[in-house]
Amino acid sequence: TTIDMAAEDYALGGYPDFMRKEIAEQSEAVRRALRGRLDDRFATARLGGLNMDARELRGISKVVFLGCGSAYYAGQLGAQLVEELARIPATAEPASEFRYRNPVVDPDALYVAISQSGETLDTLAAVQELQRKGGRVIGAVNAVGSAIARQCGAGVFLHAGPEISVASTKALTNMTVSFTMLALLLGRVRDLSAADGQRIVDGLRAVPDAIDQLIGDEAAIAEIAQRYAKARSMFFIGRVRAWPVAREGAQKLKEVSYVHAEAYQASELKHGPLALIDPEMPSVVIVPDDELLAKNINTIEQIKARGGPVIAVTNADLPASIADDVIRVPKVAPELDPMLLTIPLQLLAYHCALALGRDVDKPRNLAKSVTVE
Ligand code: AGP
Repeated sequence: TTIDMAAEDYALGGYPDFMRKEIAEQSEAVRRALRGRLDDRFATARLGGLNMDARELRGISKVVFLGCGSAYYAGQLGAQLVEELARIPATAEPASEFRYRNPVVDPDALYVAISQSGETLDTLAAVQELQRKGGRVIGAVNAVGSAIARQCGAGVFLHAGPEISVASTKALTNMTVSFTMLALLLGRVRDLSAADGQRIVDGLRAVPDAIDQLIGDEAAIAEIAQRYAKARSMFFIGRVRAWPVAREGAQKLKEVSYVHAEAYQASELKHGPLALIDPEMPSVVIVPDDELLAKNINTIEQIKARGGPVIAVTNADLPASIADDVIRVPKVAPELDPMLLTIPLQLLAYHCALALGRDVDKPRNLAKSVTVE
């Protein structure tokens, strides 16, 4: 109706669609997630919603992240952060599979149920299965008062604000921000030094400006997207820290543009998928400025040697000649690289979808929250 239209225009606040608006709102969303939660005195994070004291936090033997789709990829980033900062074994798995495989539930583990909507049936069922077996589950949920938030009773709210577009953007960023704070807290009750803790605190504070800087480069990314939108298929390549980033980049492109995309670990390329590389198969290679830089450069060279076009997404100081296109990302702290490297991939997917005339907010066959099996 006309009234709904007017309400939608109002909610869009001048943006052409919700996906674009939600991408742009990310710096504000991150500021909200950080508010009152960074502690400079002890170089740690304050997450009162966990309802756990230092002794309980120290008793955690492992951390398991559970979520569906992109929330699962955010969980992979969470697991890496927990292992890096707290040195506690951590893994992520799709919540949609969990209850079907008679999982071994560890009473000393911390399980983290991740969901923007808080209504995803598979994730809710995983929480119930865990609780039935005596597991300790916390939520990492955006929607306050949602089924998963209530079922968990404790956790970290994401504070991303309402997310309307089916493709999740700002909620995912806030998941990673929240897991960085969780990992920081778990690290600081163990052996993470105050200096390293403070480096993470400062890094988190620098994220909103870095995001704004990235979004300021949108026009260049839109131009790249227009050139590649007609591709039949694209590869997204990353390793270790950048592997969940590649998975999320491929997911976003498929979801909103319907271009087939596949994510691969750079190290796995030569074990099969390299056979697909030719001038018609563009690869988006995620290159963080970390200890694997030389290996990632080598991956780019291998793809180029086979005639494959390469879009490098990097925060390393690489020459423009390294790839056909280079998308540059600001640096805050190595542990926070994956979060920032994801943002250009949102814009790439978004502009590919626009170039192909897709309905970005409501991709075919998908629902914002999947409340059925
Ligand atoms: C993300 O862009 C997707 N729409 C989808 O994978 C989503 O992340 C997944 O369905 C989980 O949703 P939730 O976070 O609301 O539980």
